[in-house]
Order: sequence, then C-alpha cells, then structure tokens
Amino acid sequence: MKLMIINGPNLNLLGKREPEMYGSKTFEDYFIELQEKFKDCQLEYFQSNIEGELIGKIQDVGFSYDGIILNAAAYTHTSVGIGDAVKGVETPVIEVHISNTHKREEFRHVSYISSGSKGVILGFGLQSYDLAIQSFLN
Ligand code: DQA
Repeated sequence: MKLMIINGPNLNLLGKREPEMYGSKTFEDYFIELQEKFKDCQLEYFQSNIEGELIGKIQDVGFSYDGIILNAAAYTHTSVGIGDAVKGVETPVIEVHISNTHKREEFRHVSYISSGSKGVILGFGLQSYDLAIQSFLN
C-alpha cells in the first residue's frame, strides 16, 4: 500500500503556528509516529506553499499510488485548480483537516476538494491523518 500525504500552505509551520488551533507538534515528528504505526504501508510526505507544486504532486502520484491524503490548507477554500487535479487523477483522495473547518469562519465552510474526494476527515487534530490512513487499509 503506497500512500502520499500532501500538505498545503503554512502546514510547514505546524508546532509553531496557532498552537491552540493546530497543536504543538511538528508534522515531521508526527510523520515519524505514523511511519512507526503503519509499518506495512509505504508512506510518503510532501509539503508546499505553492499551488502549482501541489497540483504537480497530485498529478505525479495520482496514477500509480494507492491513495492520497490531502490537506490543501487555505487552498481548500479557493483553488479550482487543486479541485480539478483531484478529479482528474485515478488515485482516490481523502481530504483531511486538523481543525473542524465548519466550526470556524464561513469562508472555511467551502471546499473545492470535497466533491472530487473519496471522503473527508476533519476536526480530529493530527489524528485526522491517522484515520485517513486507516480508511485506506480497511
Ligand atoms: C486547515 C484548515 C484551513 O482552513 C486552514 O487554512 C489551514 C489548515 C486544517 O487542517 O485545519 O491552513 O486545512
């Protein structure tokens, strides 16, 4: 099982960024925990602050990997391009968010990713990624 986690803008600041909202752990540390927990899975991780790079990665892995776990961060609410990329590839995509975006500002209630996704997991903190991996294994 080959899974790619793709994180969008500002998620490289996890641990430092609004810790009351996103927690105090870096994604790099959390990723090590995920790799230890899901040893039978080939897990990879990519982060970019640039919309086109996120689209490029979705296209690169989207015809060969078993799953993509995508937190497009702020681009979730703005990017037709990322939404189209999700719809354009064969690999199933699970949209994840750390926070419950529906409990937050109204502009975060809109997602350009959801309609092309296999499912959406949000509001469980970093555990949202863990749940997404489990959903691919089941
Ligand atoms: C986020 C929610 C987005 O609204 C926000 O822009 C982020 C992180 C989340 O994981 O909760 O950067 O995707």
